[in-house]
Amino acid sequence: MLIDTYGRVATDLRVSLTDRCNLRCTYCMPEEGLQWLAKPDLLSDDEIVRLIRIAVTDLGVTEVRFTGGEPLLRPGLVGIVERCAALEPRPKMSLTTNGIGLKRTAAALKDAGLDRVNVSLDTLRPDVFKTLTRRDRHHDVLDGLEAARSAGLTPVKVNTVLMPDLNDDEAPELLAWAVENDYELRFIEQMPLDAQHGWKRDGMITAGDILESLRTRFTLTAEGEEERGSAPAERWVVDGGPHRVGVIASVTRPFCQACDRTRLTADGQVRTCLFAREETDLRAALRSDAPDEEIARIWKLAMWGKKAGSGLDDPAFLQPDRPMSAIGG
Ligand code: GTP
Ligand code: 5AD
Ligand code: SF4
Repeated sequence: MLIDTYGRVATDLRVSLTDRCNLRCTYCMPEEGLQWLAKPDLLSDDEIVRLIRIAVTDLGVTEVRFTGGEPLLRPGLVGIVERCAALEPRPKMSLTTNGIGLKRTAAALKDAGLDRVNVSLDTLRPDVFKTLTRRDRHHDVLDGLEAARSAGLTPVKVNTVLMPDLNDDEAPELLAWAVENDYELRFIEQMPLDAQHGWKRDGMITAGDILESLRTRFTLTAEGEEERGSAPAERWVVDGGPHRVGVIASVTRPFCQACDRTRLTADGQVRTCLFAREETDLRAALRSDAPDEEIARIWKLAMWGKKAGSGLDDPAFLQPDRPMSAIGG
């Protein structure tokens, strides 16, 4: 079991499959991209499956989420999902993607055993999409979303980051669209995890702002705490139901006390938190032929060092060296 000193148990593993991406969202990375990890530094498909097997069979992990960068850029993704679906006990499996490429892969991923997807989409306006992501791929994301829903990768969740003067007026419109298309929309507060280190607390759209904007058009009723469990999103029932809208308020209403996550970067480092400043090297252990028990021991020890919270409210807060795209969200 991956337990920490605050008694939290990590049952949810987030695995970053690549740090590369085919978009350049302004709140994530610069126009020119980043210095990508070198191929030999990335875990191989076999190494990834081995670590997931250890997590599931020896460490009590029950849910696995594949992330990036953009995980659909990983050539072996379908095979990795297929091999993880054969594990005993079979973990629940999901994917967080920008949606480009889902049109091509959704059916194969479903067949391989993927349960559901979360797709990032910040705007319904193609021109704003182009400004925000620096790529003209709005249509591909909409197609990808439809493909995911048709393939049964449901519930399909949509992640939206609102940025001042770009898309912060779109919240009600996005919710109307999500309700109509049967997607579960979640707004995410922008976090200080951009590669450019340009985040400013007072330049951020807060959960309070988002709810105020949504309430101009919808009646929102808070869902009970018991229904939330360890989910990062607080949810509201929209106009009496059945649809819901979520807000992931990592900055103004953090959920760290209920966190059940452990993370693996694409180069095989365990991170105990998005905002952790330390990492634990499992790749070195893998590549020095350590047995499963040794890898499990190192992973447990890493989680024992998990901090109480993100430290965002600490005046001495320092952004982690790795940006979001290399951590895996
Ligand atoms: P489900 O609700 O199970 O579908 O997943 P999720 O919302 O955790 O996953 P997703 O990858 O879609 O993440 C949505 C947002 O939540 C992203 O911006 C993540 O960075 C953020 N998030 C995920 N895990 C954590 C976490 O441990 N801490 C914080 N502060 N934010 C997180
Ligand atoms: N703050 C908040 N959310 C972010 N995402 C990427 N960078 C940030 C950030 N700095 C979102 C993406 C995606 C999810 C995994 O995280 O839009 O939906
Ligand atoms: Fe790519 Fe996600 Fe970063 Fe956008 S937020 S550039 S989709 S990794």
